Amino acid sequence: MVEEKFVVTPWEVRGAVDYDRLIRDFGTQPISGPLAKKLEEILGDAAYLVRRRVFFSHRDLDLVLDDYSKGRGLFLYTGRGPSGPMHIGHIISFYFTKWLQDKFHTTVYIQITDDEKFLEEKRNLSYEDTQRWAVDNILEIAAVGFEPDRTFILQDTEFIGNAYPMVLKIARRVNYSLAKSVFGFTGETNIGFTFYPSYQILPSLLEKRRCLIPSAIDQDPYWRIQRDIAESMGYYKAAAVHSKFLPPLTGMQDKMSSSKPETAIYLSDDDKTVRNKVYRYAFSGGQATKEEHRKKGGDPDVDVPFQWLYMFFEPNDKRIEQIRAEYKSGRMLTGDLKDILIEKVTTFLSQHRQRREKARDLVHLYKKDGTLAREMWKRDFAKS
Ligand code: TYM
Repeated sequence: MVEEKFVVTPWEVRGAVDYDRLIRDFGTQPISGPLAKKLEEILGDAAYLVRRRVFFSHRDLDLVLDDYSKGRGLFLYTGRGPSGPMHIGHIISFYFTKWLQDKFHTTVYIQITDDEKFLEEKRNLSYEDTQRWAVDNILEIAAVGFEPDRTFILQDTEFIGNAYPMVLKIARRVNYSLAKSVFGFTGETNIGFTFYPSYQILPSLLEKRRCLIPSAIDQDPYWRIQRDIAESMGYYKAAAVHSKFLPPLTGMQDKMSSSKPETAIYLSDDDKTVRNKVYRYAFSGGQATKEEHRKKGGDPDVDVPFQWLYMFFEPNDKRIEQIRAEYKSGRMLTGDLKDILIEKVTTFLSQHRQRREKARDLVHLYKKDGTLAREMWKRDFAKS
């Protein structure tokens, strides 16, 4: 058997991820050619995320764009498991979803999976912990600036009364051997966790239009199951756009973790913390000494500050290529590169923080005290 060099599941990302291999293994499609161009046009200023293959893979994106151009519409769905403070990697899909909402003027459903994070035993979170993190994380998400009238934050433990009939209909269609093979459940897995995937599928069936789901590629296994059952239930197969993982500060071989502060920059980190983390922990592709660096140059491909600039923080193509060239040639030192990143991250976070303060009053609009939930239920669930 070939040795597994990396692992990507919804609960674990380990090793150096080979993204082309994932496209083959998961059976998704690369975002390339005319389709990539179309998505770039839609994204405008954010097109660099497609051009640089940060969002690199998809399912049925072509059909989504076709539905949009023919006036059939679509809706968007993404989510967050409130297991701790959110880091910069987590927020990328939310900004991406907001940019799509701005263009498509469509509904966004955001699932907060407090149940999932309680049931995921290795996290060892109490139920109360998950509730506190849900409040914290919802505020971070509200700071992204979704349109209040078209955005619904659905927190699993609150929404369950509306969702349960439909979740049951989903659950009855998924047998244990499929779930086991997709998610790797074992005899030790608690039964709540084996039921949970039926709830993560639910928001993709909230409307009888095509649902487009932006997320990192770790969430794709759910959509695979959704696509097996959706049509038999009278709904569309979910479409998805998948991103790569923003690498942890400490090096490319891992996933940023909410529970390991040195691997990530949290949305709540102040400027001083950002500076300390980048200086102390950011894995550098530079040489051991200044002299050696000037002579041999740095390696941007493994340098985390460069990768963070490339994947999110420096949208300007000319500027990023300039940085790459300077760093490779040895003219730019590791410290200079780190300073560029620190400036970008602190500016981004200060804007995010300002919006977070304003967003406090928006949260109840996103949650809508269950009103939208009831409307959805009347319109779609009750008759299915
Ligand atoms: P969670 O909380 O693990 O992750 C939230 C979102 O962040 C993405 N992500 C990353 N993106 C870029 N770089 C990283 N290093 C990185 N780490 C995580 C995840 O792919 C996700 O999009 N079960 C889900 C919650 C959920 C959900 C959804 C997510 C429910 N429904 C629909 C996306 C779409 C979870 O625990 O995500």
